[in-house]
Amino acid sequence: MTETASISIDGKTHEFPVITGTENEKAIDISKLRDQTGAITLDPGFKNTGATKSAVTFLDGEKGILRYRGYPIEQLAEQSTFLEVAYLLIYGELPSAAVLEEFRRKIDRHTLIHEDMKKFFDGFPSKSHPMGQLSCLVGALSAFYPESLDPNPTEEEEDLTIVKLLAKMPTIVSWIYKKSLGHPVMYPRNGLNFVHNFLNMTFGQITEDVEIEPEVVSAMHKLLILHADHEQNCSTSTVRIVGSSNANLYASISAGISALWGPLHGGANQAVIEMLENIKNDGGDSAKWLAKAKDKNDPFRLMGFGHRVYKNFDPRAKIIKKACDDVLERLGINDPVLDIAKELEEAALKDQYFVDRKLYPNVDFYSGIIYRALGFPTDMFTVLFALGRLPGWIAQWKEMRANKEPIGRPRQVYTGSVIRDYVSLEKR
Ligand code: ACO
Repeated sequence: MTETASISIDGKTHEFPVITGTENEKAIDISKLRDQTGAITLDPGFKNTGATKSAVTFLDGEKGILRYRGYPIEQLAEQSTFLEVAYLLIYGELPSAAVLEEFRRKIDRHTLIHEDMKKFFDGFPSKSHPMGQLSCLVGALSAFYPESLDPNPTEEEEDLTIVKLLAKMPTIVSWIYKKSLGHPVMYPRNGLNFVHNFLNMTFGQITEDVEIEPEVVSAMHKLLILHADHEQNCSTSTVRIVGSSNANLYASISAGISALWGPLHGGANQAVIEMLENIKNDGGDSAKWLAKAKDKNDPFRLMGFGHRVYKNFDPRAKIIKKACDDVLERLGINDPVLDIAKELEEAALKDQYFVDRKLYPNVDFYSGIIYRALGFPTDMFTVLFALGRLPGWIAQWKEMRANKEPIGRPRQVYTGSVIRDYVSLEKR
């Protein structure tokens, strides 16, 4: 028998179907609620609201589980490459060696960006935040590839837009970095793998060959894989909702980049390092800063702690913490903020305030320490998150279109003034 949920309102009871996902997650399908009852639901922050059915990523926040297309994040981070994971997320299956090679070739054909895009960099102030630049540059791709504006592209046309964006993003990101230094940009070197090519454009010099250490390439693959998708978070929901108006892929991703920027979301990685630096410069007293985080009259929050859906360890944080130790050891770096981070984590995990609220370190508590060890400046951290998240955003945008989802348009409970008559200016 199909399970239902009853809602009683205005003396009448209505039944709504309960649907179950492949991992036995239950949802009450209220799509006919307003038609049947005249009422809507109210759920600020969408804490209980499923916006879509999705086959991309499974996440169980209570158990600390994360899987892309069914594959555990631990296995992908350990054994896969970023491009392979990108293919998996976007097309649904792990590629065969031949398919992966063809995908790599397609990407290689589109790594250059239009030379006119360089003019944007001349216009940005030299100290402007890389996330503002990235959002602008990705949105601007639509001007260079107007065929992407077609709301009804063929599968091949849609695929080409996807490939172009994937291919050009590392070039854009590395050029933002180069411009911040005032250095000449490096052009892509097709034949290097996706991540190596990105690192070469970022840390390479046109004056001499710079060898990118294999440890750096491998750590970067891992970080990008760990960030590649996270189901219906703030930026992904933004991408889907913008795309639901039939806005083109570049515009939708540009909006996602803006949503990611905030310190409560992707911007946390930058905020964590700044927080750890502040604590170090303040004498390293973690107890004092924990007390501030607990004080409701103090706006300070322990950045990199807490998560909307994880009420257990974020599985990505576990992998990153270990990767952080490995990278620092292999590169022979001793970063004092790592000790502060570990001390804070240990103290918070024992503290009743954090225990009661199930606040654990999230993916970004340790990622910034690795990015820093790899040589990235702090304000580039969230851009790296965006580079990693790109395949997830694309996969979710593509799924939303394939499902022919309706335009996203929440309702509201109006709490403003009831009707009143206009009063002319001289009488106010
Ligand atoms: N430090 C101190 N207290 C916290 C923290 C924190 N980092 N996070 C949550 N709390 C407290 C809240 O004050 C609240 O306490 P209360 O019940 O006494 O009022 C309780 O825990 C629940 O927190 P909410 O803000 O209601 O939880 P929500 O799910 O809305 O927010 C969020 C989740 C935004 C991630 C929050 O935990 C936070 O601000 N963390 C710090 C920023 C951060 O690290 N963001 C990155 C998230 S991961 C990502 O997006 C990549």
